[in-house]
Amino acid sequence: MKTILITGGAGFIGSHVVRLFVRKYPEYKIVNLDKLTYAGNLANLNDIEKLPNYVFEKGDITDEKWISELFGKYRFDGVVHLAAESHVDRSIANPMEFIMTNIVGTVNLLNAARAIWGDDTTGKRFYHISTDEVYGSLGEDGKFTETTPYDPRSPYSASKASSDHLVRAYFHTFHLPVVLSNCSNNYGPYQFPEKLIPLFIHNIRNNKPLPVYGKGENVRDWLYVEDHAKAIDLIFHKGSDGETYNIGGNNEWQNIRLIQELCRIMDRKLGRAEGESAKLITYVKDRAGHDLRYAIDATKIKEELGWEPTIRFTEGFEATVEWYITNEGWLNNVTSGDYQKYYEQQYVKR
Ligand code: NAD
Ligand code: DAU
Repeated sequence: MKTILITGGAGFIGSHVVRLFVRKYPEYKIVNLDKLTYAGNLANLNDIEKLPNYVFEKGDITDEKWISELFGKYRFDGVVHLAAESHVDRSIANPMEFIMTNIVGTVNLLNAARAIWGDDTTGKRFYHISTDEVYGSLGEDGKFTETTPYDPRSPYSASKASSDHLVRAYFHTFHLPVVLSNCSNNYGPYQFPEKLIPLFIHNIRNNKPLPVYGKGENVRDWLYVEDHAKAIDLIFHKGSDGETYNIGGNNEWQNIRLIQELCRIMDRKLGRAEGESAKLITYVKDRAGHDLRYAIDATKIKEELGWEPTIRFTEGFEATVEWYITNEGWLNNVTSGDYQKYYEQQYVKR
């Protein structure tokens, strides 16, 4: 039996990865380590929490001593590292949390893996999940490949870039068997409503303004979260040591076009007159240092590992909207309490 640590498993992408691994690999013991910050929510895993191969450990990856004890207790065979502070806007408001979790936390995990694996790393793997934002911002043409030079431009992407460099350094210096991936924007169920799609669904439902940064001309490459989880499974099991794989949806949308499409779907789902939800669109001050365009060239993972997105955007987007409408309780639960304070600081007091 293999024991696999998944960090950040109570968050958006992590919960999909935990669910996939727990269900697909009953012969593995899956340990989900999560601090349960505002973005972590055990309700994301209600459907699998009682399965015998699943264990939850609440803790902080910046706590070096606790991490070292946890690795001693479970003697993990593999690590899938997703835990991070992940929201660009929050990194602009408070960079230090990002430095601590994304950089120091990652190094604590690398050190703990190195300490228990020693020189015999047969069958071991440390998988670091990263983002396309480390590559910077594109103009109108081109896509990010695995060899695009790093050019991070927000505290979030700089902290992720730093952790990527450290993971690679542990491969070259200490021969730690690492693998990395850099993915584009994910969408789907269980995403915290500080990110564009769930935030705007929530606001449309509640007839609140839709705060579009700048002119809404920025472009993102959207991928359904379950397709990302499948790519993670494949890379974890079949990727090569020391390699990086770019993951993307080949699905670019200018923000304003995506938002208009969302408004149309919401009008239909909520029985509103066509154009009603779009009236909520409000242009607000642009995000500081807002990257214009991200787009991923995912040729390498397709050619080497045979991965491609399986969910068409029209299908995935509709299913996502339906999920947030059906799971109103989940949305209401995560938007109570501290969320209100965050929202006021981010949008109202600009
Ligand atoms: P998320 O914010 O939804 O979840 C992050 C999880 O990490 C939460 O459960 C949180 O409680 C946990 N966490 C935060 N700090 C911690 C700490 N100090 N110790 C332990 N746990 C801690 O993030 P997400 O969107 O699911 O992103 C997961 C990973 O994927 C991140 O590394 C992110 O950089 C990367 N990524 C995200 C996207 C995206 O579109 N969301 C795209 C590419 C890559
Ligand atoms: O590209 C991968 C990254 O995608 C991940 O690494 C990050 O963890 C994830 O948060 C996401 O980053 P973005 O900054 O692209 O996502 P966000 O949902 O915050 O914003 C998407 C776009 O929408 C971006 O151009 C900013 C814009 N936006 C966002 C919000 C929250 C608005 O116009 N208004 C808003 O209120």
